[in-house]
Amino acid sequence: MTALDSHANPELAVFIRRLPKAELHVHIEGTLEPELIFKFARRNQITLAYESVEDLRNAYAFTNLQSFLDIYYAGMAVLQTQQDYREMTWAYLQRAHADGVVHAEIMVDGQAHTHRDIPLSTVFAGMAEAMHQARDELGLSSYLILSFLRDFPEDDALDTLEEALALRVQYQDLWVGVGLSSAELGNPPEKFTRLYDYARSLGFRCVAHAGEEGPAEYIRGALDDLKVERIDHGVACEHDPTLLERIIREQIPLTMCPLSNLRLGVVDNLSQHNAAKLLRQGACVTINSDDPSYFGGYIVDNYLAAAQALQLSKAELVEIAKNSLSGSFLSLHARQALLERHPFPVI
Ligand code: ADE
Ligand code: ZN
Repeated sequence: MTALDSHANPELAVFIRRLPKAELHVHIEGTLEPELIFKFARRNQITLAYESVEDLRNAYAFTNLQSFLDIYYAGMAVLQTQQDYREMTWAYLQRAHADGVVHAEIMVDGQAHTHRDIPLSTVFAGMAEAMHQARDELGLSSYLILSFLRDFPEDDALDTLEEALALRVQYQDLWVGVGLSSAELGNPPEKFTRLYDYARSLGFRCVAHAGEEGPAEYIRGALDDLKVERIDHGVACEHDPTLLERIIREQIPLTMCPLSNLRLGVVDNLSQHNAAKLLRQGACVTINSDDPSYFGGYIVDNYLAAAQALQLSKAELVEIAKNSLSGSFLSLHARQALLERHPFPVI
């Protein structure tokens, strides 16, 4: 099931597009379309390992998370200037707006830029320009989540957080949280306990990828050691009934990404994805796009693919969209204001 299947059910695609949705799990670098990679490479005089956009797209055949991460980090090397970060972010926000996203919480891999000597001030400035433009011109609100790379040492993340803190006041309307991403296996949450204790003490909202390729134990670790408020992915939670019961009881949002899981081999087939089963058991499931330019679809494509593969009803799709707003870091007041402007359909 791919994005192309929106043609198979255009009425459902329109229904999903019209639902007010929050995107809670998207990596800005994963929205970088091949056309923009080529444009920025040309502008910044960087030679790519691929001859054409088509060549690059053909390389997007992943076998697991690491095989994706290798291409993803190589692709973002074309990002050099504030203008690049602004254009990438603006392209995503326009696309999200067209998909009916009313609020986006966008992750950025700070270290993937600082390790290439791009200062966070450049990254934040470019993203913020686009995020403010989206607020003013599209009525689309957005927040920034600084995500740390779990395959690097905790001290490297702490240094990066320290560098970013110099920007905190300037971007206080956008930068609300911290996250944890990259190669999961062998990099358990408890490696980052000090980082999260520090970030939480500073008032940041906390999320972490867990249970994507890693075991249910990593989800438990993210909740107990890192004290996160949301789990990014969380597919593995069903292997631990006690953990699942807690996730349901505490209504911990799971930011699931079906097309990502399909393309990275977390599931062999979308019909095996547990998003619907978890939702029907009472979990706070949300649907998101993760790295849409690499995985063949933006948020509507993900909703639609899941709806078709898992026979999600319209009422269930509304429930998932409602979960995305209640699971966001928006204040109750901001959420209510959004809902007044974008009411849910009554099913
Ligand atoms: N970084 C970007 N996409 C990711 C994913 N799906 N899992 C872990 N780290 C990521
Ligand atoms: Zn992710």
